[in-house]
Amino acid sequence: MIYLMKNRQIFVVWLVVALTQCTVVNAQRYGIIPQPQSVVEKEGEFRIDGKTVFLVSAGDSSFVEIAENFAAQIKAVSGMKIRVKDGEDKQISKTVVFAKKNGMGQEEYTLQVDPQKIIISASYPNGLFYGVQTICQLLPSEIYGTKQATGIKWVVPCCEIKDAPKFSYRGMMLDVGRYFMPKEFIMKFIDLLAMHKQNVFHWHLTEDQGWRVEIKKYPKLTEVGAWRKETTGYQGAAGDGKPHGGFYTQEDIREVVEYARQRYVTIIPEIELPGHSSAAIAAYPELSCFPERKYEVPTGWGIKKDVFCPNAKTFTFLEDVFTELFDLFPSPYYHIGGDECPKDRWKESAYCQDLKKVLGAQTEDELQIFFVQRMDKFLREKGGKKVIGWDEILDGGAVPSSIVMSYRGHAPAIKALNRDMYTILTPNRWCYLDYYQEDPEKEVKSQGLFLPLKKVYDYYPISDTVPANKHKFILGMQGCIWTEFIQNSQRVEYMAFPRTIAMSEVAWCDKSNKNWTGFCERMVKEFKRLDQKEVGYSKAFYNVVFNFDRTEKFPKELILSLDMPESVIRYTTDGSAPTVQSQVYKESLTVKEGDCIRAQGFTTQGKSIGVEVNKIFK
Ligand code: ACM
Repeated sequence: MIYLMKNRQIFVVWLVVALTQCTVVNAQRYGIIPQPQSVVEKEGEFRIDGKTVFLVSAGDSSFVEIAENFAAQIKAVSGMKIRVKDGEDKQISKTVVFAKKNGMGQEEYTLQVDPQKIIISASYPNGLFYGVQTICQLLPSEIYGTKQATGIKWVVPCCEIKDAPKFSYRGMMLDVGRYFMPKEFIMKFIDLLAMHKQNVFHWHLTEDQGWRVEIKKYPKLTEVGAWRKETTGYQGAAGDGKPHGGFYTQEDIREVVEYARQRYVTIIPEIELPGHSSAAIAAYPELSCFPERKYEVPTGWGIKKDVFCPNAKTFTFLEDVFTELFDLFPSPYYHIGGDECPKDRWKESAYCQDLKKVLGAQTEDELQIFFVQRMDKFLREKGGKKVIGWDEILDGGAVPSSIVMSYRGHAPAIKALNRDMYTILTPNRWCYLDYYQEDPEKEVKSQGLFLPLKKVYDYYPISDTVPANKHKFILGMQGCIWTEFIQNSQRVEYMAFPRTIAMSEVAWCDKSNKNWTGFCERMVKEFKRLDQKEVGYSKAFYNVVFNFDRTEKFPKELILSLDMPESVIRYTTDGSAPTVQSQVYKESLTVKEGDCIRAQGFTTQGKSIGVEVNKIFK
């Protein structure tokens, strides 16, 4: 009898452990994005209240700063003043311990939440910061608010989490050259990246249509180069008649860099060379191969022919510019552009043709390599920087010490990997967030391709064909937001979110840990966080997506999908509005000329979701 009792107890203990270790994590209770490596659910919760104390391992000022910033955030939304103390006082119950452990990776952390104690362990502040980000996501979404919230129980559900990223480079790029974005928005954007454990903000600071960073030695860069008289768009469209411009002072830059430092986001500045340099040439024509010609800051988009001349004046200028930037941007990586540089002016220029002969170069592409090589050497030797360039830096040879940012698909990345060069993936079809995410025919004009949330999520930077011994050269991935069609920060928010959040999970998780259904379930909680942060995100998540081959007029296969969990799609083909009585979508449709498909999501209780989406095929 005693024997049987004992066995029953063992069985019950086993069952409890098995159930609590179940890998399907309750999305509403936990809902962490990006998904951690492992989450063990536990019963109970830790409540943060006025008696809670933050205990920080002594001797690390970065750990103290993280704890104090977290305490300040709690105070802002709850009014509670949390004490931050040194050491590991075992006597105090209700503590959050910020523990420094040996032997963990730079961005790794563990989190243990029990009813009496939370322990965040990390070897480095980066990991500790991510532990705090996870706690914030476990708290009610009001933790992200800007005002004091009332009636909130500040509870963290109990759990055990082990976590570390798959990729060390998890970035987003924003083009502020086409349209200037205010520094307050840049900080908001960085904050949103940090919240999802993204660690790079690639700041595309110079473009044909605007130079955006103050350089004291060359004041005309911002007096002249930061302003265009109007915007004409692509292919000589009529201008809007509105002057556009703006730039960041060096003080602004310092402020943003410090803001990012506290959030473990590295800011990589990009100075475009030798192409996309018309604004600089408008300010200083001597940087072109034809200084006697007249230049102005272009008003229209597209690839411009006036590019830096590879001569002594240009190199001195660029070295001066980077020397000023070294004082502003501590990033170990600097981006030097390198993309879309037409060689027309170099072909026209007697100086460039002589230079080719001197260098023994056969083509102008080799002149570009010479250019990149010089800048790479300067940045490495004088600034201790590693250079990143768009994938054209491989076109006329290669500069082996540089890092290739592969954007024209995967082929350039493969080329770089074959040379054992480090690479960052941002293939446009999956990573350019200036592409449409809702119905391209009805959305505000954007860049031409269609990139819904699921396609972003389904991406993975290591394709199956990459041999294992090359994986270490893939540093990670980033999303890019080009702004030809994005005139202001509200529009950036709409284009960037929620797709940037999907990207954060792709870059953080091992492939085996990605799960689209789980991601969508967690997004329901995530949207509440974004609401608290007043992010003007796209609501496409609530609408039916029409997936088909957009090169076909009458697609053989039309697949309808809806990201919102626990919902069904109802649709009609007779032109009537979809209702709760309309047929439920089950499998792909084939369309013919004149077909009109109208579709909308409904909850399983019959409540409509989002807005109707429809299309007439003709
Ligand atoms: C690029 O899209 N030209 C980098």
